Amino acid sequence: MQAHRLRREDGRTPGNFAEAAAHIFAVNVPAAHRVVAIDGPAASGKSSVARELAKQIGFDYVNSGAMYRAVTWHVLQHAISPGDGVSVARLLEASRIDCDLDEDGSRILIDGVDPAEHLREDRVNDEVSLVSSIPRVREILVAKMHAYASDRNVVMEGRDIGSVVFPETPYKFYIDASPEIRLRRRIAQGQRDRIAVRDRADSSRRASPLVVAEDAHVIDSSNLTVEGVVGEIIGRLKLKGMVI
Ligand code: CDP
Repeated sequence: MQAHRLRREDGRTPGNFAEAAAHIFAVNVPAAHRVVAIDGPAASGKSSVARELAKQIGFDYVNSGAMYRAVTWHVLQHAISPGDGVSVARLLEASRIDCDLDEDGSRILIDGVDPAEHLREDRVNDEVSLVSSIPRVREILVAKMHAYASDRNVVMEGRDIGSVVFPETPYKFYIDASPEIRLRRRIAQGQRDRIAVRDRADSSRRASPLVVAEDAHVIDSSNLTVEGVVGEIIGRLKLKGMVI
């Protein structure tokens, strides 16, 4: 982490042992199983960045937040209380969850229904943090995330992709932005989303909280365009030995 910061500020390559080892590891990662992890708080710009990055480097785009949102919608449709972990887990174990890809990236179907148009509803915004704090929910969805990356290269965005889901990937990014700018972005999207409440819940939960992975490269997107952030990530991936 320190080495990364040094290089960014000085424009120099530190050349220490850890950095060199990371480089050797990175260039030897089998080409078919690479994961670029993009984590960060609500409305930090992760989705736009991850989608555009995936397009530019030819990887598949996986939105893990949409998976937690889809499951939350399913729970609400069944009138199960999001705080009732036992019933939520029982429902999911009895449901068929299919994850695949279309031209826009990852897609999730629950019992044959694609809830894409409901994922940004207020009630989903309000309950998703609670549902995603249930360990069994995470276990079920993390297995799906691993399956995505088992035979393809992916850019995956979320909260714990670099810290918990793919801790071994050398390509970890944490995108942040000031709370004011994040709130403004969400309002511009026409959404009522209490992002500060979600951030607090996501950061303080026991199961896989939102944290900056130790070896993640942090980017503050407050004053950057999507292209600017993607450019910084691609530069970083090249430095780590990825052939793009
Ligand atoms: O788009 P936005 O940043 O608002 O959120 P999202 O990525 O769609 O994620 C919605 C919610 O899902 C988050 O607030 C977390 O509670 C949960 N989530 C999670 O727990 N772990 C992930 N890897 C991704 C999302």
